[in-house]
Amino acid sequence: MIVLAIETSCDDTSVALVDDKKHVLAMQTVSRLKEHAKFGGVVPEIAARHHEASILCAAESALNLSGIKKSEISAVAVADRPGLKGSLLVGTSFAKGISLAGNLPIICVDHIEAHAVSCIIENNNLNPPFLSLVISGGHTSVIEVKNYKNFKVYFKTIDDAAGEVLDKVARNMGIAYPGGAVLDKMAKFGDKNKFKMPIPKINNFSFSGIKTWAINIAKKINSEDEKKDLAASLVYGISNYVSENLIRIAHEINYKKIAIGGGVACSEVLREVIAKKCQEQNFEFYKTQKKYCSDNAAMIGILGMNQFLE
Ligand code: KG4
Ligand code: ZN
Repeated sequence: MIVLAIETSCDDTSVALVDDKKHVLAMQTVSRLKEHAKFGGVVPEIAARHHEASILCAAESALNLSGIKKSEISAVAVADRPGLKGSLLVGTSFAKGISLAGNLPIICVDHIEAHAVSCIIENNNLNPPFLSLVISGGHTSVIEVKNYKNFKVYFKTIDDAAGEVLDKVARNMGIAYPGGAVLDKMAKFGDKNKFKMPIPKINNFSFSGIKTWAINIAKKINSEDEKKDLAASLVYGISNYVSENLIRIAHEINYKKIAIGGGVACSEVLREVIAKKCQEQNFEFYKTQKKYCSDNAAMIGILGMNQFLE
């Protein structure tokens, strides 16, 4: 079985072809981040127009790369929630068009649930149930993947998302949007104990206090060394904060398998911190290539395919 998958929930237009052996046959992702950077964030109207302009080309290119004929496609999967309304509308309309033209079933997929299962793509031995950390510019949640249709959110942010904080702090340090990846690189060269990040004491994630704390420091410091120290204190601080809760929940619900997804799951620091904790406490840690962590259609296809088959 081959599924054509579409992801347009935010600013990236992505189309992929996946098969029922969890292989990604091809994926084409068009990023227009540079055009949003001048506004300091994603502008919904512009994102929707970009999707409209790119989606047909992305789909044709994914088909060409895969060598699959249109007649070989068995179903269409599309992210229909949550996300920017106009952007989602472009993806779902395109998916409906293909489904009607080819008389194919359409599978509507939750974008966050797809992030939660993205590690399945390159880890053949990973199957539900497992615990997943979804950490991106819009979400920060610990999710139990019971099976492909049954997800339980254990912890989620009550205010900002982790990636949003990284991007906003970076902006206050003069780094262009989205600054998360730059802070992650800088963190390796700074002193992570220089500034002490406050840890929220509530029974959920919260990042707004951390954001205010870091922005206040960012406004006061000038030297490149101090900027590296702030990056290290913040990125290691957030990585420790989320991974401690992730591991605690895994202990509580007695899960041994831990996966990560979402743009911030590209962070080398976060990967290093979680890997270390998992090794010390005998958890299996699953990660995947960065292109499958940030917004992508392969994860939509993998979840859609498995929901269709379950
Ligand atoms: O999943 P994603 O592509 O889009 C959303 O659904 O939000 O995540 C984007 C977020 C941005 O906040 C970006 O700064 C962050 O992921 N990000 C990173 C890294 N690469 C992307 N954060 C830390 N380290 C990275 N290497
Ligand atoms: Zn996302």
